[in-house]
Amino acid sequence: MKTPVAIVGAGPAGLLLSHLLHLEGIDSVVLESRTREEIEATIRAGVLEQGTVDLLAQSGVGERMKREGFVHEGIVLRFAGASHRIALTELTGRSIMVYAQHEVIKDLVKARLDANGKLFFGVKDAALYDLDSPSPKVRFHREESVEEIEAQFVAGCDGFHGVSRPSIPSRHRQEFTRTYPFGWFGILVEAPPSTAELIYAHHERGFALVSTRSPQIQRLYFQCDPEDDVKSWPDARIWEELHTRLATRDGWTLAEGRIFQRGIIAMRSFVVEPMRFGRVFLAGDAAHIVPPTGAKGLNLAVNDVRVLARALVDYFKTGAEEGLKAYSATALRRVWRAEHFSWWMTSMLHRFHDDTPFHHRLQLAELDYVVSSRAKAITLAESYVG
Ligand code: FAD
Ligand code: DHB
Repeated sequence: MKTPVAIVGAGPAGLLLSHLLHLEGIDSVVLESRTREEIEATIRAGVLEQGTVDLLAQSGVGERMKREGFVHEGIVLRFAGASHRIALTELTGRSIMVYAQHEVIKDLVKARLDANGKLFFGVKDAALYDLDSPSPKVRFHREESVEEIEAQFVAGCDGFHGVSRPSIPSRHRQEFTRTYPFGWFGILVEAPPSTAELIYAHHERGFALVSTRSPQIQRLYFQCDPEDDVKSWPDARIWEELHTRLATRDGWTLAEGRIFQRGIIAMRSFVVEPMRFGRVFLAGDAAHIVPPTGAKGLNLAVNDVRVLARALVDYFKTGAEEGLKAYSATALRRVWRAEHFSWWMTSMLHRFHDDTPFHHRLQLAELDYVVSSRAKAITLAESYVG
């Protein structure tokens, strides 16, 4: 099989790249190791930057998002028992959209299949080779047979645990990593919203986050031990922890409900440089990971693909290689900005195992600065809205 662009991974990065190329008349094949049902049911991100929203809308996949998503013009920082609003839109002129990642996935899968796009699910043992030749290849198992794609370019969009990044010889890549000594316990709850805007809470027992999915379903997270087991958290213990960490002096209450989904997420910062080797280009989590505190991962994946699609379109339409040559440096500039922001939000809001009372006071001083200085609030808001 031959194709201009072989895309490994049908996450937001891979699907959107395939869609954007299709809109410019460029064919691609997307290889996904999981089933359609699995990728459409995996619960992950929820916050879309305005740039992400605009790109999805302009490329014709934003109709349901605009109908069912929620525009938010602020977030709340809660610490020392009080809430403080960061007025994102007033400070930056931009807003965010709360719309679940698996809904974005559904919209993109539908768009690709409606356009007869080649999207292969359940592909096993994908192997990339000849990456620094003019015709890189991907070999894989599908429905009991071995198949091979010969492409002009390969896009590695297969997430942090995918095969694309390790296919680049280690002497051609430099990796930067930080692992955090905590994870997030995430739940989905059948309950009415307790707040009109997301709450990021700092508490001496650890971080907590109140987000939403719909008027009936809420998304909540709290900092936990990354080695913890969901089984050691019966519902009553989860609610007690959330009530404690989110309590305010003015008696705000958190609505409880049936917990129907739960999981623990590890937290790390990671970047690989460069995001290209020969004719393979990495995009999204395959190239970088941020801790979720800044809500940046999905948005970075979208930005990589925006830059990569433009570069590939230029190449196929005019033969110009400048965009492809600049891809890694262009994407990495935004990646490192988001890495810093996500690390900063994480550091400011979480409890670290080696925390001292001194460190705790420093966190409170910084939070107080963010909510009392317009300059500092703009710094947070600009990065948060993207
Ligand atoms: P992925 O979504 O990981 O997709 C990669 C795909 O490749 C997967 O479907 C996988 O099955 C497939 N694959 C892997 N290996 C292979 C292989 N060998 N062969 C074929 N296919 C393969 N980001 C935000 O912007 N905002 C948020 O609010 C936010 N919240 C988050 C909350 C949680 C709980 C988590 C876990 C993440 C959150 N993120 C958030 C991060 C965001 O979910 C990721 O950054 C995003 O999914 C990256 O997209 P991607 O397409 O690069 O990778
Ligand atoms: C959600 C996830 C995040 O990582 C975040 O910072 C805000 C909201 C969410 O899943 O809704």
